[in-house]
Amino acid sequence: MLELINATKIYTDNGAVGLQNVDLFVDAGEFAFVCGHSGSGKTTLIKLIFCEERLTSGHLFVDGVDITKLRKKEIPYLRRRVGVVFQDFRLLPNKTVYENIAFAMEVVEASYRDIRREVPKVLSMVGLTAKAKSYPKQLSGGERQRTALARAIVNKPPFLVADEPTGNLDPDTAWEIMQVLEDINAIGTTVLVATHAWDIVDNMQKRVIKFENARIVRDDEGGYADEELYECSTDDDSHEYYGTDDFEDEGGYDDED
Ligand SMILES: Nc1ncnc2c1ncn2[C@@H]1O[C@H](COP(=O)(O)OP(=O)(O)O)[C@@H](O)[C@H]1O
Ligand SMILES: [Mg+2]
Repeated sequence: MLELINATKIYTDNGAVGLQNVDLFVDAGEFAFVCGHSGSGKTTLIKLIFCEERLTSGHLFVDGVDITKLRKKEIPYLRRRVGVVFQDFRLLPNKTVYENIAFAMEVVEASYRDIRREVPKVLSMVGLTAKAKSYPKQLSGGERQRTALARAIVNKPPFLVADEPTGNLDPDTAWEIMQVLEDINAIGTTVLVATHAWDIVDNMQKRVIKFENARIVRDDEGGYADEELYECSTDDDSHEYYGTDDFEDEGGYDDED
């Protein structure tokens, strides 16, 4: 499904290294987390996968296609094979939930009949049937991300990538979104999630690919080791909900529970 061979990404404007000689293989049907400190290369990997950025050297295969050789006009074809979800949802504010999802089918020229059949199915899958006629501003953060997930899978891509999909959500809602991602994986979609939400990663016991300074430093099944748990919790934009506050409280945790 995904293969990187000696993949390096150097940003030409500032010389920053996004990925350094990365080798990675993710098989069809897998669910994997990408974790690591801010600036370690997670977003670079996600952007390379859906061709928002191009590799400087090496190879990147997505669903059997060598993206490094892809011409500009072939990129829309790739984007149909890869669903993408972002931290900030990126919904169209003047379209309803239904219309946001339908729009993803319209741009790939699906028929009206197919749209009418498929949109209710994905709405039901993400638990948003009752909100079909709502506008994004009328939704909670979790409902917005559910809408974005429905939109990302409505064209049935074999591969779904998500960049910090729970970064703007409270812990309970984040957990629900991860459950939806697991459901999407259970119907056969390969899922790759870049995240700071170490407690969720720990709980879900999936494959964890850890980046440091643009390289993979760990690739294991089953969550974090204890010391890494603390490390990841001090990461930048995780402060709001997965922050260090608990660790810095005087007296620390209450042992009785
Ligand atoms: N568009 C860009 N232009 C220049 N440098 C970038 C760009 N995006 C990311 N970088 C740099 O690439 C490295 C990896 O960043 P990124 O992939 O965004 O990390 P993460 O998502 O893990 O926080 C960092 O040093 C960052 O500053
Ligand atoms: Mg990032």
